Amino acid sequence: MDKIYMDNNATTAVKPEVLEAMLPYFCEQFGNPSSVHWAGRMVGGAIDGAREKVAKLLNCSPAEVIFLSCGSEGDNYAIKGTAEALKDKGNHIITTSVEHPAVLETCDALEKDGFDVTYLKVDSNGMLNLAELEAAITDKTILISVMWANNETGNIYPIEEIGQIAKKHKVRFHTDAVQAVGKIPVDVRKANVDMAVISGHKIGAPKGIGAMYLRRGSRISRFMHGGHQERNRRAGTHNVPGIVGLGVACEVAGANMDRDYTFVRNLRDKLENGILSSIPDVKLNGHPDADLRLPNTLNVSFNFIEGESLLLFFDMKGIAASSGSACTSGSLEPSHVMGAMGVDVVLAHSSTRFSLGSGNSIEEVEFILHELPAMVQRLREMSPLYHRSEPTPLSCDECRMVHKTCA
Ligand SMILES: Cc1ncc(COP(=O)(O)O)c(C=O)c1O
Repeated sequence: MDKIYMDNNATTAVKPEVLEAMLPYFCEQFGNPSSVHWAGRMVGGAIDGAREKVAKLLNCSPAEVIFLSCGSEGDNYAIKGTAEALKDKGNHIITTSVEHPAVLETCDALEKDGFDVTYLKVDSNGMLNLAELEAAITDKTILISVMWANNETGNIYPIEEIGQIAKKHKVRFHTDAVQAVGKIPVDVRKANVDMAVISGHKIGAPKGIGAMYLRRGSRISRFMHGGHQERNRRAGTHNVPGIVGLGVACEVAGANMDRDYTFVRNLRDKLENGILSSIPDVKLNGHPDADLRLPNTLNVSFNFIEGESLLLFFDMKGIAASSGSACTSGSLEPSHVMGAMGVDVVLAHSSTRFSLGSGNSIEEVEFILHELPAMVQRLREMSPLYHRSEPTPLSCDECRMVHKTCA
C-alpha cells in the first residue's frame, strides 16, 4: 500500500482545478489589483470573481467577504476587532473551552487587557449546554464565539440555535467555521452569524489564504494597519493567486458537498465501526451520534498506549494521522479538548485522530483495519500501564523511531 493520508483536518492537498486556476496569476497576470494601470486591472476581476464564489458558499453578499491570510488571522481579527470596537458597550466575551488556540489564545490576550471571558464547559461528549450559554450573557456581553465544528473530535455545534440566542440578546456572534466549511453546509444568514472565518488550506486551496464573513454594518476595529485594501478593513497587497484558489476551492466544495459527504462518511463509518468492533479498550472521543460529527473525523483513544507512539508505528507503514498530544519541549501535553471533555489523562494521551478526505479509498480503510490491531497490541505489550502480559523489548526499528522523536 502506498502512502495513506488521513490528516485532512491539519491540511489538505491543493485540488488540481484550484492549482490550474491559480497558475496564470503568478507570471502572466501578476499585477497589483490596487494599481490603476492595465496590469492591475487584469487581476481586479479575478478577485471579484473569487469573492462571489466564497460568498455563494457561505450564503452572504460578496461585499461581506474580507480576504485575509489564514484562519488564525480571521479569528484574531473577529475577536480583537470586535472587542476594541465595542469596548464602550461592555467587556464580556463568551466562548467555549474547546475552541482552537486561535480563539482561546486571543481571548487569553484580551483578558490580560482587562476583558472578562467566560469559557463554557462541555459535557463528556464534548457538547455545550445552551441554557448555560444563555445564562452567561450579561449586560456587558459584547461577543459570543463558538466554533461551527471542532477540529479534534469533529463535533458540530448548534450554530443556528446559538445564533437565535445571540440575536435575542443583541450580542455579536462569531463562529470559527474553519473545519466546517466545505464539509457541511455553512449558511451564515440562516444561522444568524455576524462573523465567520474560513481557511483555504483546509478545503483544497493553498496555505496562506483565508476569508472572513463580516455582516454588513457590523462595527469592527482594524486589525492590520496600512493600505486601504478590502474596503479599508484589511491592509496588505492582495494574495491574488491564493484568493483565486480559495474561490475555486469554495466553488468545488459547494458543487461536490453532497457527494463528498456521503463518500467520506461511509469510509469514516467503516473505519470507526471496524476499530470499535475489533480492538478492545477503545474509546470514541466526540459525540456518539455520528450525525453530530463532521463526516470525515474520527477520534479514538486506545487505552494504555500513547497516541504519539502509535503515530510512529503508523508512519512506518506510511499512514499519516494525528494525535491529541503535542510533543513540545520534551513533554507530552494532552489536548485541551480532551481535558475539557473530562477524558481521563491516560486516555487523553492515547487519543488518535483520523481525518479523511475525498482522496481516500476503501482499500486504505481496509489496510488500516488490517494493520491496526497488531500495532495496538504491540504497543500495549510494551506499555507499563498494560498488565496483561510482561513488557517486551523494543525492536531496533521501533527503538529508533521512538527515541528519534521523543528523546
Ligand atoms: C478550528 C480551527 N480554527 C482555526 C484554525 C487555524 O487556521 P489556519 O491554519 O488557517 O491559521 C484551525 C487550523 O487547524 C482550525 O482547525
